[in-house]
Order: sequence, then structure tokens, then C-alpha cells
Amino acid sequence: MSGKQIVVGITGASGALYAGRLLRALLIGGHQVHLVLSKYGRYLLVEELGFRPDKESLRAFITRCYGEETQAGELHEYNASDLAAPIASGSVSIDGMVVVPCSVKTLSSIARGASASLIERAADVSLKERRPLVLVVRETPLNLIQLRNMTAAAEAGAVILPAMPAFYQKPQTFDDLGDFIAGRICNMLRIEHQLFPPWPGPEGKK
Ligand SMILES: Cc1cc2nc3c(=O)[nH]c(=O)nc-3n(C[C@H](O)[C@H](O)[C@H](O)COP(=O)(O)O)c2cc1C
Repeated sequence: MSGKQIVVGITGASGALYAGRLLRALLIGGHQVHLVLSKYGRYLLVEELGFRPDKESLRAFITRCYGEETQAGELHEYNASDLAAPIASGSVSIDGMVVVPCSVKTLSSIARGASASLIERAADVSLKERRPLVLVVRETPLNLIQLRNMTAAAEAGAVILPAMPAFYQKPQTFDDLGDFIAGRICNMLRIEHQLFPPWPGPEGKK
């Protein structure tokens, strides 16, 4: 398989749509996704995207939502408490990691290097191995502690990519908004995509 190896952490912040659209893009693109859901990340997938964990696997849910084309990529799911999983070790070859959406609780744990869950540990490994780590933080408004935690994570090498979709692309649907963030994440992970056209500038728009 020629695709990239990407770790995706989903935590309990609102914005499961962003995770869904990113998973869709990565899997259709033929990449290998190493997926970890926190307890509340799973809860938000249920609440916001209609995942039915009692009736379907995550893979079946993704196929139901985003189509058979997503079978092009590989999906490996890990338990968030499994600190012996391969992605907990720097010896495993991984191209990059994203936490999307990233709660301020997980942001705080990553910023202080807690490594208590598999998401936190894999993020810590990304930083020590100097691999791309993208944190799609979602909270509003932000207090000083949260702002300082973002600064600390950025100083350690993480990219803070707030869940702030733009409107100059004239989004028509929620999926368009999700694809804007998914595309910006792909840009940070050096993954080619066609999730939105590049801004052509005022001349190009004529
Ligand atoms: C419906 C719902 C929405 C939430 N939205 C957010 C949010 O947007 N941002 C955030 O930082 N926390 C949010 N939380 C709180 C987190 O889920 C909570 O702090 C949790 O401990 C995060 O743990 P995790 O990072 O391990 O998933 C929300 C919780 C619920 C139940």
C-alpha cells in the first residue's frame, strides 16, 4: 500500500463532523488510518453523526455514511486505554497524527506530556519523534489556561488548527464546512486532496 500511515484521535469536543470528513478523505485516498476514540469522542460520534455502536462497527458506520469508496484505505482501531498498542511506541513508522476534534482536556494533557491515554501517548510520541502533530482544538470562549496550553503545545512542535472553517469558499452544506477543516488538516500532514479549491484571488474569481 502506497498511502500514508496517519494516527487519528477523536476526543469529546463538539465537531465530530470534522473527524468524519477527514476519515472519509483519508480512506478514499487509500491511506492507513490508526484510529483511537476517547470515551467522549465515541459519545460525540453517536450524538452528532448518528453512529450506532450497539448495531454496527465503526468501519460499517463509515461505509454507511461515506460510501464503498472508503474501502480503499485501511482502518485500524485501538482502545484508548491500550498503552501497549503499536502506535504508543516511537519505533513504529507513522507519518503524522491529528486529534480532531481536540477537547481542551486532551489539549491540556498533551501540553504537559501526561501520556495517560493512548491518544495522549501517541501525541507525545509524535512530538518526541518530530513528526507532524495537528490539534483541532474546539472550545469557545477560551480561558487563559487553555490559551497557555495551546502555546505550550505549539512551542513543543504541535500545529494548533482551531475548528474555524472559513466562508470565502461559499460553503453550501455542513459537509463543505467539514471538508474545509479536513483539507487544512491534510495540508499540514502533506497529504494531497481535492476537498476545496485553492483561493484563486480576486483576479481569478472574475
Ligand atoms: C455534548 C458534549 C459536548 C462537548 N463539547 C466540548 C467542546 O466543544 N470542547 C471541549 O473541550 N470539551 C467539550 N466537552 C467536554 C469533554 O467531552 C470533556 O471535557 C471530556 O472529559 C473530554 O475528554 P477527552 O478529551 O478524553 O475526550 C463536551 C462534552 C459533551 C458531553
